[in-house]
Amino acid sequence: MSRLHRLLVLPLAALAVPASAQAPVAAPAIPTRQPNEPLRPAYHFTPPAHWMNDPNGLVYYRGLYHLFYQYNPDATVWGPMHWGHAVSRDLVHWQDRPIALAPDANGMIFSGSAAVDWHNTSGLSHDGAPPLLALFTYDNPAARKAGQPSQSQGLAYSLDAGETWRKYATNPVLRADAGQVDFRDPKVFWHAPTKSWVMALAVGDHAELFGSSNLARWHRLSRFGGGLGAHGGVWECPDLLPIAVEGSTRTRWVLIQSVNPGGPNGGSATQYFVGDFNGTTFTPDPAFVRSIAAHGPRWIDWGRDNYAGVAWSDLPRTDPRTIMIGWMNNWDYGQKTPTSTWRSAMTLPRELSLYRLGDGSMALRQRPVREIRALERPLVTLPARNLAGASTVAVPGESVSRAHIELSFALPRHRTSVGIELSNSLGDRYTFSYDARTNAFVSDRTHSGAVDFAPGFASIDRAPRASGNRVVRMSFYIDTTSVEAFLDHGTTAMTTALFPRAPYTRLQVFAHGGPARLTSFQARAIAVQ
Ligand code: FRU
Repeated sequence: MSRLHRLLVLPLAALAVPASAQAPVAAPAIPTRQPNEPLRPAYHFTPPAHWMNDPNGLVYYRGLYHLFYQYNPDATVWGPMHWGHAVSRDLVHWQDRPIALAPDANGMIFSGSAAVDWHNTSGLSHDGAPPLLALFTYDNPAARKAGQPSQSQGLAYSLDAGETWRKYATNPVLRADAGQVDFRDPKVFWHAPTKSWVMALAVGDHAELFGSSNLARWHRLSRFGGGLGAHGGVWECPDLLPIAVEGSTRTRWVLIQSVNPGGPNGGSATQYFVGDFNGTTFTPDPAFVRSIAAHGPRWIDWGRDNYAGVAWSDLPRTDPRTIMIGWMNNWDYGQKTPTSTWRSAMTLPRELSLYRLGDGSMALRQRPVREIRALERPLVTLPARNLAGASTVAVPGESVSRAHIELSFALPRHRTSVGIELSNSLGDRYTFSYDARTNAFVSDRTHSGAVDFAPGFASIDRAPRASGNRVVRMSFYIDTTSVEAFLDHGTTAMTTALFPRAPYTRLQVFAHGGPARLTSFQARAIAVQ
């Protein structure tokens, strides 16, 4: 028996300080939200105050979706990271909870994940109720300064259904090899066929998988991705999970992998790979590898404002969805966006599924979770019509700045560009279009409002169209300072942050460069009760 193997069979409970001997984490109190903040989204999650980045520790337990997040409680810029915390029963209404994890002698608390330890493999529960476990990255700036590896993985657990968290007594549980600078963002899941825990970790320019029987002793299983996919920057925040194939009872394994910089329109973005996982190794499908060799990396979202997204763990058997949420910002300018008391929002929670493309490879489709529909109220429906130029749609007051707009066009002939424009009385305008000449979607925020707070924010971003359908469908979720576009039934997504100087009040539909037929149009107001 190897030394490593001997360590693996040590029961974790033997190493942990008894739960009763550990005080819950002490952290700053959570601030209250300021009333009437004009740039605050209405139906997207934002921190009550101060800085937020990645979603962390997404886990569902006993009727509650937990959303932890990278949080600096002291400022509206990145700093000493904690895990902030919120809970929801429906993924739409969120309740702020106290900070869950604060820095300690091992370092700041970077990104990571949480899972329910149903079989108490950790031995940390003593009353029969399963503990909740969180794996996160410690980042130690002093070690970094001294030229030592500064990142390691820590373990924390909750014995009260996620409300309070204790650090494991002998953290860290996984250290970087000498010379390994980037070693972070563990995503853990229980792999039933091998009855073991698996951790996906971002390690510089690739992902590594580790295995464990008890969440505290980890051994390396495999490496993936060096040389494959997008490598414009460092890999961060992986997720490895089975996702349902539409129209079948099958799943395929998907590795979701953020990269910063190197996104398709600049800065941070998230790519994915479809393949198989056998308990040790993730192997991409040959058709998928051929497809990305021919067409480039596969992006979850082509907009510039969806990063570090991962999926919820432990959804109930009665709800076999994969639900993902991302940070609606970009490291290129994220710390400079013009909000005052808080900074950054999350995307809408989105449901993921797989479908087959014409080249035989599998691709991800995403749609906002159906729970959002409960917030929608009819606003305007238009009959089909021919368009030449711009046509204003009558929407009352500021309703268009918090709305769901769905429209479709018959595939326009050459050179026509069709889409929508949002604008306000100050002349700020945001346009989103399908450009028939290049067969691409185009998001133009160059004149959308405040744009000069950071170089390069005023961008025109493009996404190739994935669908070949004769009807171009567009679905927009607009919320004060963002537009999430789901195109052609979610086969392409583009998420864009915006900072209009006054709420958008005007909506136009347009066909530029030639006539086009608008085949359907519906606008619904979105309000959170
Ligand atoms: C991604 C990231 C992670 C890291 C965290 C630090 O946005 O850089 O890799 O854990 O943010 O806040």
